[in-house]
Amino acid sequence: MCGIIGYIGNKQAQPILLSCLKRVEYRGYDSCGIAVSSGSIKVYKDVVRVETLAKVMPQLGGTAGIGHTRWATCGEPSQVNAHPHCDCAGNIAVVHNGVINNFQSLRQQLISEGHTFISETDTEVIPHLIEKYYNGNLEKAVEAALRVVEGSYAIVVVMVGEPKLVAARKDSPLIIGIGDRESFIASDVPAILNYTDRVIYLEDGDIGVVTRDNIEIAREGTAVEREEHKILWGVEEAQKGGYEHFMLKEIHEQPKVIRDTLVEYTQMAEPVVDLERMRDEGIESMLILACGTSYHAALVGKYIVEELVGIPVRVEIASEFSYYGQTLARTLAIVITQSGETADTLKAMKRLKEVGCRVVAITNVVGSSASRVADQTIYTRAGPEISVASTKSFTAQLMVLYWLAMGYSKADARRLASMLLGLRQLPSKVQRVLDNGDIILQCARYLAKYENVFFIGRGINFPVALEGALKLKEISYIHAEGYAAGELKHGPFALLGENTPVIAIVAQDNTYEAMLTNIKEVKARKSPLMALAEEGDEAISELADFVITVPRVDAIFSPVVNAVVLQLLAYYTAKERGCPVDFPRNLAKSVTVE
Ligand code: AGP
Repeated sequence: MCGIIGYIGNKQAQPILLSCLKRVEYRGYDSCGIAVSSGSIKVYKDVVRVETLAKVMPQLGGTAGIGHTRWATCGEPSQVNAHPHCDCAGNIAVVHNGVINNFQSLRQQLISEGHTFISETDTEVIPHLIEKYYNGNLEKAVEAALRVVEGSYAIVVVMVGEPKLVAARKDSPLIIGIGDRESFIASDVPAILNYTDRVIYLEDGDIGVVTRDNIEIAREGTAVEREEHKILWGVEEAQKGGYEHFMLKEIHEQPKVIRDTLVEYTQMAEPVVDLERMRDEGIESMLILACGTSYHAALVGKYIVEELVGIPVRVEIASEFSYYGQTLARTLAIVITQSGETADTLKAMKRLKEVGCRVVAITNVVGSSASRVADQTIYTRAGPEISVASTKSFTAQLMVLYWLAMGYSKADARRLASMLLGLRQLPSKVQRVLDNGDIILQCARYLAKYENVFFIGRGINFPVALEGALKLKEISYIHAEGYAAGELKHGPFALLGENTPVIAIVAQDNTYEAMLTNIKEVKARKSPLMALAEEGDEAISELADFVITVPRVDAIFSPVVNAVVLQLLAYYTAKERGCPVDFPRNLAKSVTVE
């Protein structure tokens, strides 16, 4: 869950490494460092953000180097545990993203062979292994070293006297960027978009030998071809576009994201997922697996698919999936993951494959690990999502689930036609939510002074209550819980009172009357109440202290407009509390460790 970079070319490496590192800082930001090679390897690293490192570090001359921004897994954030790590002689430097599971035994072995270690990290075994196996050819030594390593890794290696960088990946993302007489290596695309839009995605097991003018990729010593991709996103998209935070920019991108994802699928000749063929093959139920926000999208997906397609859908938290027996016969498995790199989800995918399940991945990152493991991949077209808190990827995931289900809906043609119209109108409905920010800002200013909050919803909006609570938790540090509204009276009522606001999602569907009852119960216990209600709902304004009006939509699409309201509410509340919105403490964008 770190960000790694490599540069080799005809320009000074240091400024380029630092600017690229800044763009992958959302992958982890507890410490960082770079190493530059020119006659010797010079390393500078510390427990600071990249911006500070750039200010305090000396000029390290050289046109080849590597860099790293860290999210500690093995060894606490410290100067000595920061990357890059070197061999005994300091001639080889390595940056690494991933986890080496057998590093303890390798370390003992190397110590018994005379190597000395200075950090607590798993990564440090890699430069020592390369040193052990080096016999005049760096990539051969890297290959030999990785043969004894167990775990996940994306690494970049630089060595004194070797006019090349060597890169390798296994279960961790890594790309190579092609420039004009310069080459780049990075954990992901936004890092290098300032320099090139030509990239190659390395596959698991690939080793890339990268020089200023050439890139060679091999697998188990045999040369392989990898397709070059032209990135359609502009640098701008990877930058804030004039918004104060990536999160606010990404929230405001949702009308376009919904449109782009719908355009993508309405143009497809073939159905998103050929459920018909699968039914012929005996598929009778669906299992959806995911983590965090993607899990909440999966829960909404259950309501959509069960209502429209009529097959039973089970939704599981990916990290729990491997703990109980599974009857997966005749089940289509769908995993949802924005980054495509979440370790819990990847592990569950592999387990599904082992038991012969067909696995479809819904992901936002082309070339991600999930897209490699899956039998079929459906891409959301949300563009790069930089802010740790997922927003536009959530609504893009819902678009795919709507489209998937509508493709097999039992609904009659009239219903389908009205749904299609409803989908096409969603971007403008969401835009109206975005334009109605003042009341949301007012509610946020009110909410910012509280430490405990409940979100309640029913039916298809219960998962949206969970998502609203997650957003508020992760960026404003307020303890928030999402609850099925009917569940409050089975315990949480004990926590209600003047200091515990409740945010209720009141949709105009078969849950409306029951939600009104629950709201009266909440008010009877003196909790301040904010309600999300459809325009024209008079009854609610008599009950709630604050009413955030949302545009009228088909009930099945209400999770989209309600989710955008709650994203903005969390954003403004976090801002009001002075929180680092895009880089909340203790979190990272893609969680690549279990
Ligand atoms: C949501 O805002 C968080 N970033 C987190 O819960 C995230 O949804 C979770 O880690 C799953 O990530 P994925 O969709 O990339 O697999």
